[in-house]
Amino acid sequence: MAEIISGKVVSAQVRKRVADETAKLKEKGITPGLAVIIVGDDPASQVYVKNKEKACDEVGFYSEKYALPADTTQEELNALVKQLNEKKEINGILCQLPLPSHLDDKEVINLIAPIKDVDAFHPENVGAIMIGDYHFLPCTPAGVMELIHSTGVSVEGKKAVVIGRSNIVGKPMAMLLLHENATVEITHSKTQNLSEITSGADILVAAIGKAKFVKSDMVKEGAVVIDVGMNRDENGKLCGDVDYDDVFDKCGYITPVPGGVGPMTISMLMQNTLTAAKIQNGID
Ligand code: GUN
Repeated sequence: MAEIISGKVVSAQVRKRVADETAKLKEKGITPGLAVIIVGDDPASQVYVKNKEKACDEVGFYSEKYALPADTTQEELNALVKQLNEKKEINGILCQLPLPSHLDDKEVINLIAPIKDVDAFHPENVGAIMIGDYHFLPCTPAGVMELIHSTGVSVEGKKAVVIGRSNIVGKPMAMLLLHENATVEITHSKTQNLSEITSGADILVAAIGKAKFVKSDMVKEGAVVIDVGMNRDENGKLCGDVDYDDVFDKCGYITPVPGGVGPMTISMLMQNTLTAAKIQNGID
């Protein structure tokens, strides 16, 4: 039977750490500031952005929200990013994705000053992660690493398998595991003999976006199973990429959905914004 890894508990610990450090920074007259840009009225994005603002309040940050209409032009969006790049009170900039289809997210990401890129999506930050010399870790993979650490299971020398190869999760996830000396395999929709590979994993990270895709025959006995998925099942109920009930008795540790990776992502964003504020104020 598995031990449940609670994202709620671990994310509260991260937020407490960030809040404590923020209080100390404020004594020096520094308040970390985050700007969040949202374009259009996608309901899921609205919820994410609201939660980000709430988290900023909770840890003591200054925050600004820019809610732009769906017909915002690329020029208008670019101009806002450039303005925020120069704004002293703002240490971190996040442009909520996806953008409406007439806007180019790559163009926006490339415009954000790398030192304010708290998503770690800018190519300069992606490259920094590749060579292991970074300021910011992408929020979801960084949150996954915190969850793995919370189990006390050492990553070093373990076989880690990542299902999914997205730029936001799968690829950087593999890098972070590699930095901690795991032997890492990235799998994806074209991988042959997937079950054979995943069932050898001591650490399995599922980030493919397919509801309840990972079954018990794909999991090694006692494995650490991290579920990055956020899907709806046949009854419209929120579920992950892992078939939780099927896998629960076989693995050693498992993250639930909701309440696993989800709460971690915003906490790691807070962590990155704090780091950005420290660097921009010459504090290590
Ligand atoms: N949309 C969904 N997740 C994210 C995220 O982590 N960052 C941004 N910018 N947009 C998102």
